Amino acid sequence: MDKLIIQGGRPLRGVIPIQGSKNACLPIMAATLLAEAPCTLHGVPKLADIDALGVLLEELGVSVERRQRTLKLAVTDRSNCHARYELVRKMRASICVLGPLLARRGYARVSMPGGCAIGARPVDLHLRGLATLGAKIELDGGDVVARCQRLRGAEVFMGGPFGSTVLGTANVMMAAALAEGTTIIECAACEPEVEDLANFLNAMGARILGGGTPRIIIQGVESLSGCTHTVIPDRIEAGTFMCAAAITNGQVSLEPVRLDHLMAVVDRLRAVGVFVEKTATGVEIFSARQLVPADVTTQPYPGFPTDLQAQFMALTCLAEGNSVITEKIFPDRFLHVAELSRMGAQIRKEGPTAVVTGCKRLIGAPVMASDLRASAALVLAGLAAVGQTTVSRIYHLDRGYERIEERLCAVGADIQRVPDEVAIPQLAGAVA
Ligand code: EPU
Repeated sequence: MDKLIIQGGRPLRGVIPIQGSKNACLPIMAATLLAEAPCTLHGVPKLADIDALGVLLEELGVSVERRQRTLKLAVTDRSNCHARYELVRKMRASICVLGPLLARRGYARVSMPGGCAIGARPVDLHLRGLATLGAKIELDGGDVVARCQRLRGAEVFMGGPFGSTVLGTANVMMAAALAEGTTIIECAACEPEVEDLANFLNAMGARILGGGTPRIIIQGVESLSGCTHTVIPDRIEAGTFMCAAAITNGQVSLEPVRLDHLMAVVDRLRAVGVFVEKTATGVEIFSARQLVPADVTTQPYPGFPTDLQAQFMALTCLAEGNSVITEKIFPDRFLHVAELSRMGAQIRKEGPTAVVTGCKRLIGAPVMASDLRASAALVLAGLAAVGQTTVSRIYHLDRGYERIEERLCAVGADIQRVPDEVAIPQLAGAVA
């Protein structure tokens, strides 16, 4: 396991290339289970989560070939329909093989994903949606077991207590693509990653209207062919680097970026006093002054993304005054609060809300990453802090950011990746 050692206080200057979206890529890779011919994906980031899904797909009979950022996926054997716990527990997004397996093979056994550091993560809406299309679903030994003849189109409502579900919408959309008749998904997740999946499925021959809107209409087809697709740029990675530029009082260009995917983030960055300008191929961020506080509430797209809440909180730690940050998607997604506090941040948490009182400076400290986005927030805090910050357990970061330290160093950061050798203290005279 590695850790990052960050010497803070260096403004970032330069251009950071943005990779393809992890969260668009994962369901798209799962969708290739539906295809009768090979699919080619361009813009696939080199991430641990992508590799983990690749391993799972291989177990499910898909040949996965990677050349740089291009993946070729081709189904070669449809006999194994079991997504095992050992693989699913490494990555919750594995649940998105459920819809495609069921629709194409009539049977799926997928280990029920557990909760994780960002809180409880139920899949009841996925299961309800697939059951509405006619699947018979039961739980057996911790696995979801789903069966069907051919799925039938239906009206499916995907809203839940915390809004629509992104991967739930993806699962139902993929399953409905091969169902008999028309499916209407109401209260569908509108995230750009869902729209990208709809575009991918349409390129395979699906008939989907309204991807990226709250009502998706899917006319089921008999079969889907292969296709070639380029994944959208990662809006969360772009938002993270925007916060990195802002927190170091730097000037950074990011490209390619779909700024229309980031309007809520741009709005909040401007609210704290950061300059954000669209360029021909991306965006430029510039900050050279004392930040002012701003409130932010995470919401389903097009609202402010929960996946940038921790990074934005790191930024508000240095704004002059009180910022109120409310988490409406994952109310327990606040593990970064305690770690930021170790660096001198002043944060009071009350239920799903954190009140951040800006401080003059953050002070470098050893901190521990708890999940992907919390880890990114700690790196940002380290970039701005006085002195040295050590972020351990960075395997979380490698799940979602490609070589983050190299890319930040290329624009002026001072970050070293070193092996994290944890010394276990022993009593004098103890026998090992
Ligand atoms: N929910 C339910 N029932 C369900 C499904 C979800 O109640 O059946 C609840 C969740 O507990 C949560 C809310 O609905 O409160 C939204 O969860 P959602 O299902 O949309 O999350 P997800 O699809 O599992 C994706 C991203 C997450 C991102 C969320 C929200 C992928 C692979 N993951 O997860 O990304 O936080 O949408 O935008 O696309 C990350 O990249 O760090 C990450 C966690």
